[in-house]
Amino acid sequence: MTQWWQKAVGYQIYPKSFLDSNGDGIGDIAGIDQKVDYLKQLGVGFVWLSPFYPSPDVDNGYDISDYQDVDPNYGDLPGLLKLFDRLHAVDIKVIIDLVVNHTSDQHHWFKEARSSRTNPYHDWYIWKPGKDGQAPNNWQSIFKGPAWTYNPATDEYYMHTFASAQPDLNWENPAVRAAIHKMIRWWLDKGIDGFRIDAIGHIKKLQTFADVKNSDEAYTNVDGLFDYLKELRDIFHEYPIMTVGEAGEVTPTEALPWVNYQTGFMNMIFTGDHINFWEADGESSLTVPKLAQAFTTWQEQLAGRGWNALFVENHDLPRAVNVYGDPGKYRARSAKAIALMYFLLQGTPYIYQGQELGMTNYPWESVDEMDDVAAKQEYAYRLHQGQDAKTALQAVSDHSRDNARTPMQWTPTGGFTTGTPWLPVNTNTPQVNAATEMADPNSVWHFYQQLIAIRAAHPALVTGRYVPEVIDDDQVFAYRRVNGDEEFLVVVNLSGHAAPVPAAVADFDGRVMLQTTTAGQPNELPTFGGVLYERKRVHIQ
Ligand code: GLC
Ligand code: CA
Repeated sequence: MTQWWQKAVGYQIYPKSFLDSNGDGIGDIAGIDQKVDYLKQLGVGFVWLSPFYPSPDVDNGYDISDYQDVDPNYGDLPGLLKLFDRLHAVDIKVIIDLVVNHTSDQHHWFKEARSSRTNPYHDWYIWKPGKDGQAPNNWQSIFKGPAWTYNPATDEYYMHTFASAQPDLNWENPAVRAAIHKMIRWWLDKGIDGFRIDAIGHIKKLQTFADVKNSDEAYTNVDGLFDYLKELRDIFHEYPIMTVGEAGEVTPTEALPWVNYQTGFMNMIFTGDHINFWEADGESSLTVPKLAQAFTTWQEQLAGRGWNALFVENHDLPRAVNVYGDPGKYRARSAKAIALMYFLLQGTPYIYQGQELGMTNYPWESVDEMDDVAAKQEYAYRLHQGQDAKTALQAVSDHSRDNARTPMQWTPTGGFTTGTPWLPVNTNTPQVNAATEMADPNSVWHFYQQLIAIRAAHPALVTGRYVPEVIDDDQVFAYRRVNGDEEFLVVVNLSGHAAPVPAAVADFDGRVMLQTTTAGQPNELPTFGGVLYERKRVHIQ
């Protein structure tokens, strides 16, 4: 039976940047509440709320100081529960971010833990003595710099996969796991519909604590991880929920234990092959065939056995139009082509706020305009390595996570806040905004709305078989979705110039259901041209 989370389309909300209801420049729960109808109109089936928990905000809420409350910047717990009700009332489900690899250094567990070696919470985190006045080993943080920070009170170092204000929890300790499990049940009993599980591949550490060649050996998919994931799964299975893990380093051949329908730890995972997770300058190495093949490999590996999470943007990535499209002349058309490319693969498609408008990267002029701890640490690291300021700024600007975090563009003047926004609003808001696009039937927004509606109306586009059609062309990616006598063809030119229509596509005599543009010559796909065809009754393959 098809599950609700297979049929639904997800929409990620980054609360800090979505809508500010009280003019303090910070998005909030009441702001989201005002846009429930907007989400309904777009057609999404569930929202994923990025962290709203109390947090000193070193990593924008991914450094949590209390798992069971709401940060006063965003509102309060009753307001959040009311938002859940409002969403449920219009049949939109809600999943929340579960960030349990680490806490904030301001969490009371850590404050106690760091106070003395005999404190009962001490063993809730990972401690090692220094080596010759240095960190215990050579492990590096994902955010650059050592993965260890010295704690004078106990004369030890604590381990952090991310920023030093994000100490990693010690999952070896059964008391830690029990506390996390209890917290998970507390939220599930509040009626949420599932979790997006943050950084979950990192919770197990290499227990030798030896030097490594690559820090992933220390904290990514380390042997023994599955024991902890199975415990989580057994809790998840008690509830009618969905779960999606962030597991960028899992390869297609490793994925089945994670997501197979029967015993998988979660329903789906966000993987990284098509986006080069965290890689500076990574975008430049992306080509159309590599992209098409990465998608195809995942589709084929999981076919009939597990389910994909489909996405091109999130709060950690630059805007897709800048990565795969053209933020200039072909902004809108390329945004549609990108949408068509990934949305109708087999899996649950996710939209990151503003993606449905074709929002673009911010034109950064200085690193001082940025907020992201990862971008700032990376910039400092590059200068330290001897790179010149201009090159370093360029690299950081291209992939800074702040590109996704500038405020949502609601109106020609911004519409995000009546005050001063915590990050600047992109200068293209006069053209790129929800109000203007909702009034224009040819906008990116309407394209997404149509895609969602078409997908919802055709089971072949949800559970149908994926058949690669063109995956080795420098410009064009094409695939079919097939279910009984229902058949669809997606063909997209992802390049900056016109392409000949591939033979396999020319032979498909279907009806056009949706296209990114009506421009172009016969027998050619214009720049960022993309078409969805439908045909009924085909011969068995
Ligand atoms: C995940 C989040 C990212 C955060 C990191 C540490 O990768 O998506 O935003 O910085 O975990 O919590
Ligand atoms: Ca606010």
